Amino acid sequence: MTTASVNERIQLIVKGQSKDSTCSTSLAKGPWEFDGGPAAYGPGSSSEDVIPADAPRQGVLPDEYKTATQDELHARIVAAKATLGDKVVILGHFYQREEIVQHADYLGDSFQLAVAAKGRPEAEHIVFCGVHFMAETADILSNDEQKVILPNLAAGCSMADMADEDSVEDCWEQLMELYGTEPNAAGLAPVIPVTYMNSSAALKAFCGRNGGIVCTSSNAEIVLKWAFERGQRVLFFPDQHLGRNTAKAMGISVDQMPLWHGRKELGGNTAEQLNEAKVILWNGFCSVHKRFTVAQIDKARAEFPGVRVIVHPESPMAVVDAADEYGSTDYIRKAVAAATEPTTFAIGTEINMVQRLAAQYPQHNIFCLDPVVCPCSTMYRIHPGYLAWVLERLVAGETVNQIVVNDNVATDARVALERMLAAKPL
Ligand code: 13P
Ligand code: SF4
Repeated sequence: MTTASVNERIQLIVKGQSKDSTCSTSLAKGPWEFDGGPAAYGPGSSSEDVIPADAPRQGVLPDEYKTATQDELHARIVAAKATLGDKVVILGHFYQREEIVQHADYLGDSFQLAVAAKGRPEAEHIVFCGVHFMAETADILSNDEQKVILPNLAAGCSMADMADEDSVEDCWEQLMELYGTEPNAAGLAPVIPVTYMNSSAALKAFCGRNGGIVCTSSNAEIVLKWAFERGQRVLFFPDQHLGRNTAKAMGISVDQMPLWHGRKELGGNTAEQLNEAKVILWNGFCSVHKRFTVAQIDKARAEFPGVRVIVHPESPMAVVDAADEYGSTDYIRKAVAAATEPTTFAIGTEINMVQRLAAQYPQHNIFCLDPVVCPCSTMYRIHPGYLAWVLERLVAGETVNQIVVNDNVATDARVALERMLAAKPL
């Protein structure tokens, strides 16, 4: 077991001082090398995904932050944070680099962090070390006076970007034409839109306006039940895997889950398939969780008899079926924390989180199912250089990289988020 951070492991691999391998040696460089880049999210798991033309781009980071050592950046972040005191709260997602997590006041999953800010009303600034949709949700749920900052604007989520508002509106129009808009004799609407938390605020607002709801990986089943109490079927976006894995666990046949391909007539389906559908799945996926395979699980079991294999439900269905357990990031964290006997865990989720669990629980043997060191490209964009920069600008009285969701969008998105909270308060 190693306790080096993911960044340190990558540096060793690139210097030839480690036998491990990484999916991209460019990960050893500063993210600023890729911020203005053309058609992708930069090195890491989603480097092959196409970045939408309107995805936010990060401006130039001043040189002093690019050339500072990790120790210097650490000291500057600590000093700036001390100066700002209670006026700032730093939130860190489980998938963030260790060098960032050290400074977080709260560490959690996307939903826990979005609501954590509410517990710190005195904080004028919320520095969200995560990705764009999380910062948007924090802006929607926090007080009007609080400003949310995303240290690197290029930290998007390739999965969230796979469902854009125009394509979803187009899909909805086609479905309304096919199904009509009226409820059936039992009072059930033809279709209820459900968006995963990993989506733009605009899509959460779309759900709010159209009788729909938001879900997270920890409450997807509760939310689908809520939707089936109100509708004959569900349109689930953007993650096909979370939708399929959750609906299958509820007893819905995979034959009744057609995949919707944006920009194709009826999403590439026949009217008959859509009439028989229970869950229409958007064709999105997470490039981190797509890397996990059944072969990796077989290998772990062969090497470590008795290994507990736990994967995130964004993994493909065959991987979830082959694993011992599956659950959200918080489920995985709690499962490891609750193990009383020394255990070998093979975990299918982002490597920064797995590595942190391995360091925190040395009594267990904990490793990532994917042997290649390949962090989430966009989570990895939050480098300490950006955190030091945004905090020092705040000390100087300037707010940079603020994420603002416009009022109309926020109002509708809040409706869908509040339905989720009412479906079962977390
Ligand atoms: P959580 O909602 O569990 O934080 O997961 C977010 C995410 O991006 C998973 O890939
Ligand atoms: Fe998006 Fe996947 Fe990264 Fe999560 S791990 S932020 S779903 S790309």
